[in-house]
Amino acid sequence: MHPTFLPAFVVASGLLVTAANSLWVAEAPSTVQPYLIERFAPAQAVAIGSQIYRFPVTGQASGGLFTLLSTSAPASSDLGVLPHIHQVHFENFFCLKGGFQLWAEKSDVRVNEARKLSVGDYGAVPQNTTHTFQLTEPNSEMTGVIQPGGFEQLFFAIATSNYKAETHSPFNVTAWNASTSAGNDPDQISALEAFDVYAKLDFEPRRDLVNGTAPSTSVWHTGLNELAKDSVTPFFVANDFGPKYLHEDGAYQIIQPLITPVQSNGNFTMGTLTLSRLFNGSDPAGITLTNHTAFQVIEGGLMIQMAGETNILLEGDVAFIPGGTAFAYWSAAAFTKVLYVGAGNDTLDTRLMADAKDWDFATFPTNY
Ligand SMILES: *[C@@H]1O[C@H](CO)[C@@H](O)[C@H](O)[C@H]1NC(C)=O
Ligand SMILES: *[C@@H]1O[C@H](CO)[C@@H](O)[C@H](O)[C@H]1NC(C)=O
Ligand SMILES: *[C@@H]1O[C@H](CO)[C@@H](O)[C@H](O)[C@H]1NC(C)=O
Ligand SMILES: *[C@@H]1O[C@H](CO)[C@@H](O)[C@H](O)[C@H]1NC(C)=O
Ligand SMILES: *[C@@H]1O[C@H](CO)[C@@H](O)[C@H](O)[C@H]1NC(C)=O
Ligand SMILES: *[C@@H]1O[C@H](CO)[C@@H](O)[C@H](O)[C@H]1NC(C)=O
Ligand SMILES: *[C@@H]1O[C@H](CO)[C@@H](O)[C@H](O)[C@H]1NC(C)=O
Ligand SMILES: *[C@@H]1O[C@H](CO)[C@@H](O)[C@H](O)[C@H]1NC(C)=O
Repeated sequence: MHPTFLPAFVVASGLLVTAANSLWVAEAPSTVQPYLIERFAPAQAVAIGSQIYRFPVTGQASGGLFTLLSTSAPASSDLGVLPHIHQVHFENFFCLKGGFQLWAEKSDVRVNEARKLSVGDYGAVPQNTTHTFQLTEPNSEMTGVIQPGGFEQLFFAIATSNYKAETHSPFNVTAWNASTSAGNDPDQISALEAFDVYAKLDFEPRRDLVNGTAPSTSVWHTGLNELAKDSVTPFFVANDFGPKYLHEDGAYQIIQPLITPVQSNGNFTMGTLTLSRLFNGSDPAGITLTNHTAFQVIEGGLMIQMAGETNILLEGDVAFIPGGTAFAYWSAAAFTKVLYVGAGNDTLDTRLMADAKDWDFATFPTNY
């Protein structure tokens, strides 16, 4: 399933490579520890109507700092959930596969926008933003990053059933046309305030999207998407249309931040890293961060060395690396792109960007 890779070197941090493969878990652990979890495999999966929710990083696994969940579903003619806000939680939507529409409305900062997200597109939904979404493609997967952690309790509370598919099929083909879901019952969503869900049933999602955006004057897949300048304004970043930085140290890495300490008040950062293979003769650099980090592979393959093991992560797989854990990572393919999430303000991307130059391209140079 996941081949263990045995490179003939020892990384700078001094960890020896072994083949134990004990880091792979069936569900996010109940305590903070290093682990890896395979796409579509988490045993802890629930159905909400036609949507299947999985929880690669939970509040417990991250010491309460963030949740990383995935939603797999077919296209739907209805909203995936009725419009609502969260007062405490900052929610991030990333399109890993297929596509969906996302609405974000916040009157005090004069934002009422909608976007069609395709693979690699992102939307930031800060606290007190009215939002909703609708799955629009036959095989879609949203990655949700929610800070602080623990928000998954909502999904356990409103689940229509547990989901245990022998084949690990992303969603349930038997229930694919079920349009009613717990998230679409006005009485039920209005009773979820204990989970930080405040229904906004009078919100009317605008349907005037042109070329994937409303208003049609917004920049969407046509030019640079800047991040918000504060922690309260919702914003969207199209795949590879955000700011980019090139870091060179034994391999090329392009950092594309989506959330920096400015947008999160220093609570977390997230974004993507695009990696070349290691340069000839280079060993991966060992790193130890003060706070927790998660990776999810978007494209290619990621090698991770930690806790005495080296493993390869394929598309959709997740690694969780607690603060204080020495690790090294490098690309297993000519071109690898990963999503990262870091807790706090001293995160991997922040460190890489401190030693990177502005960069205009979605790929790295053709030469060393
Ligand atoms: C969100 O709104 C609630 C209720 O008005 C308020 O108590 C809270 O401070 C707001 N949260 C943020 C992050 O602004
Ligand atoms: C898929 O949905 C059908 C119909 O609701 C249900 O009977 C079945 O148990 C579900 N399968 C799984 C693996 O959850
Ligand atoms: C799916 O649609 C078919 C045909 O309209 C219907 O018979 C069936 O009950 C639906 N299944 C679910 C789970 O809604
Ligand atoms: C939509 O995209 C097409 C093709 O790029 C372009 O010709 C058209 O002007 C766009 N419409 C708007 C309203 O921007
Ligand atoms: C940062 O996290 C703290 C504690 O969870 C919270 O009080 C604060 O509102 C958060 N700020 C933002 C912008 O997320
Ligand atoms: C790296 O190694 C490969 C395979 O041995 C070789 O073809 C290539 O020229 C080398 N590149 C550099 C920059 O040394
Ligand atoms: C980790 O980040 C959280 C914010 O998400 C912060 O409250 C905490 O102090 C940080 N811990 C360390 C060890 O830096
Ligand atoms: C980073 O986070 C630490 C711990 O939460 C805090 O003491 C420090 O002031 C923060 N630094 C910046 C630049 O935000």
